[in-house]
Amino acid sequence: MEVRDKVIIVTGASGGIGLATARLLAERGARLALVARSKDKLEALAAELPGSAAIPADMTRPDEIADMVAETEKRFGGIDVLVNNAGQGYDASMEHIDLEDFGHIVQLDVVGPLVAMQRVAPVMRRGGVGAIVNVSSGLALMAMPGMSPYSAAKRALVGLSLTARAELSGDGIVVSLVYPYATMTDFEANTIKASGEEDEESERHSGGGFPPDSADYVAQLILEAIETGAAEVFAHDWMNKPR
Ligand SMILES: NC(=O)c1ccc[n+]([C@@H]2O[C@H](COP(=O)([O-])OP(=O)(O)OC[C@H]3O[C@@H](n4cnc5c(N)ncnc54)[C@H](OP(=O)(O)O)[C@@H]3O)[C@@H](O)[C@H]2O)c1
Repeated sequence: MEVRDKVIIVTGASGGIGLATARLLAERGARLALVARSKDKLEALAAELPGSAAIPADMTRPDEIADMVAETEKRFGGIDVLVNNAGQGYDASMEHIDLEDFGHIVQLDVVGPLVAMQRVAPVMRRGGVGAIVNVSSGLALMAMPGMSPYSAAKRALVGLSLTARAELSGDGIVVSLVYPYATMTDFEANTIKASGEEDEESERHSGGGFPPDSADYVAQLILEAIETGAAEVFAHDWMNKPR
């Protein structure tokens, strides 16, 4: 889908990959609903990007997601694209997974994107066309010790996305996945860490010897997913292997 003049929701637009994506899409002429919890950051960004609006929402809250989608449709008159990018990591070995922390990560990384898809699908169906891009992770494709909670959440998002793609294809709605690898954002700082396991942190987040990507690079991948409608877009070819 060509993004010029399209109405695009970008979640997690207050920083990192979402911020870079919002700037890139605005540069290409899209009209943006900027979503995250940080109202001040969103309002500053909306002032910078013509045709965009700050629509704060906590993506762990289904009621706030519903309000955000309704507000976007009301302000812009429709929704063409949803970029489900807001997310957070949680590092813990399997034996030390705290169920409350795991529940939070699943709520943000899986349930939030699901609810957003459920809410935008009818709007897109009415418009006759739509694109949904869900941001997963390279860790959904591998078994990295100490990262199972995040890997599990991002794998669940893969299952939801590929199945939704099949379900919605007859309605003109294309669902895609983007798999970033280690990317230079505040992600690591924002990752929840199991107590006593912080020491292995830097090694696990080092990117396995590969240099980390920039947020601008991942934003280009998200644009590519919208434009091509590819089922899966990988940050690096080597990530696309049988699993
Ligand atoms: N960076 C990496 O190495 C990497 C690798 C693979 C995949 N990813 C994925 O890429 C996506 C973006 O991550 P990032 O690297 O840009 O991380 P980041 O710099 O930590 O940014 C996270 C974004 O999500 C928003 N967010 C967090 N909790 C939220 C909530 N409850 N409700 C609404 N928004 C929320 C944050 O805004 P507020 O705090 O203002 O709410 C922020 O805008 C995530 O899905 C992440 O899992 C990142």
